[in-house]
Amino acid sequence: MERIYIKDLKNKIGEEVKIAGWVDVRRDHGKLIFIDLRDMSSKVQMVALPSHKEAHEAASKIRSEWVLEIIGQVNKRPEKMINKNEELGDVEVEIKELKVLNEAVTPVFEISNDGREVNEETRLVNRYLDLRRNRLQKNLRMRHEVIKFFRNYLSDKNFAEIETPLLTKSTPEGARDFVVPSRLYNGKFYALPQSPQQYKQLLMAAGMEKYFQIAKCLRDEDTRGDRQPEFTQLDLEMSFVEQKEVMNLIEEMLILMVKKLYPQKKIQQIPFPVLTHKEAMEKYNSDKPDLREDKNNPNLLAFCWLVDFPFFEKTDKGDWTFTHNPFSAPKPEHTKMLMKKENIGEILTTQYDIVLNGFEAGGGSIRNHKPEALEKVFEIMGFEKEKIRQDFGHMLKAFSSGTPPHGGIALGLDRLMMILQNEPNIREVIAFPKTGDARDPMMDSPSDISQEQMAELGIQIKKENKDK
Ligand code: AMO
Repeated sequence: MERIYIKDLKNKIGEEVKIAGWVDVRRDHGKLIFIDLRDMSSKVQMVALPSHKEAHEAASKIRSEWVLEIIGQVNKRPEKMINKNEELGDVEVEIKELKVLNEAVTPVFEISNDGREVNEETRLVNRYLDLRRNRLQKNLRMRHEVIKFFRNYLSDKNFAEIETPLLTKSTPEGARDFVVPSRLYNGKFYALPQSPQQYKQLLMAAGMEKYFQIAKCLRDEDTRGDRQPEFTQLDLEMSFVEQKEVMNLIEEMLILMVKKLYPQKKIQQIPFPVLTHKEAMEKYNSDKPDLREDKNNPNLLAFCWLVDFPFFEKTDKGDWTFTHNPFSAPKPEHTKMLMKKENIGEILTTQYDIVLNGFEAGGGSIRNHKPEALEKVFEIMGFEKEKIRQDFGHMLKAFSSGTPPHGGIALGLDRLMMILQNEPNIREVIAFPKTGDARDPMMDSPSDISQEQMAELGIQIKKENKDK
């Protein structure tokens, strides 16, 4: 007999079926033993009767979270036993055969509730148990639905999903790089990408025209509620586009996604309002203003765009640095100032950020596709010609080889899911997140590596660092 999903029991009244799953709870009334069984689709009450002796005896031993395979008869519950709060509240499975597929030690915490009271370290050490709870199951399944929607939407618009490397080169993107030592080239390092920024631009140079990727990004920065060292972007890039086209595409995609997957939610304003950076700072003193008219309403989504950011800002040391992305183009009317390196503080970029309920949910820009313009950006930041060539020679060369004008954007998928699922932080929508201090307490990472591995990599750890 083939196993069926619990949700499909509705259509099997009177039939004998095979189901499998986890024991939610067991209530032993001596003669009657009730077991709630849960699989990925739903939950159902089962009953073991003394008349099926073997099954009844087996049922008397089982405990929460054991994994069972059951052959049983699907019965309709009598009217007064119907539980209106459960999807399968009018169904009961009479156990005929019970097979234990795996026993379980007593779980360290309750799984049938939403788990908010459990200490986070304990939850993460036992993440596979934590993920069994309904709330997290829903978060991960909705995350899948959202990603699937974006994939289909972009594929229908002729975007190609293309993977870009994880082992790459350290570049200045604003955060600290995670680096990977090379075994073949001792003393040299790969860097893990802070985003696929350069590769996606090189794909435009390669004539792909429309690219997207569900991209893992890695940044060695301090973790916060809306920030993880490893996170996911919906990253895309398009050739021959202007700012408005990228913004319109993303706006339409988000509106359709909310309508289809979150029909209970209301988007406060369509089209999304567009604020300049200056307006936002003057009016809300924030570059990610929370425009919700009613902040108590969990189903209200207030999207807005922010544009006209200053391109450069001064560092603490008094040098110029980029505010968002060194590869952005200035606003067309400010190109002259960039090329002449005049009034640097007044140059505005084509950057656009999308803000949702007070969180920066994404950002992008039209890029500098002319090599001399990109070079000027790095000159303003005080890079010597030789360093520019060393770090960005490949970009300048590509831009001298027939690269079309292009632009793109990246949405922070974790942040978007956090808001859509009404969660307080992005760890709740990531299967295996890191702790606030960047550890995975379940795998126990980061961890030591063996002396042999260190020797192969030509690496020695300084004593003072080891003792820290
Ligand atoms: P940016 O650095 O703004 O742009 O990143 C895009 C979006 O990614 C999300 N995000 C994060 N989410 C979780 N944890 C983090 N540490 C984290 N850092 C960023 C945010 C942010 O808006 N290459 C450019 C995009 C482009 O120009 O096309 C980029 O990475 O929601």
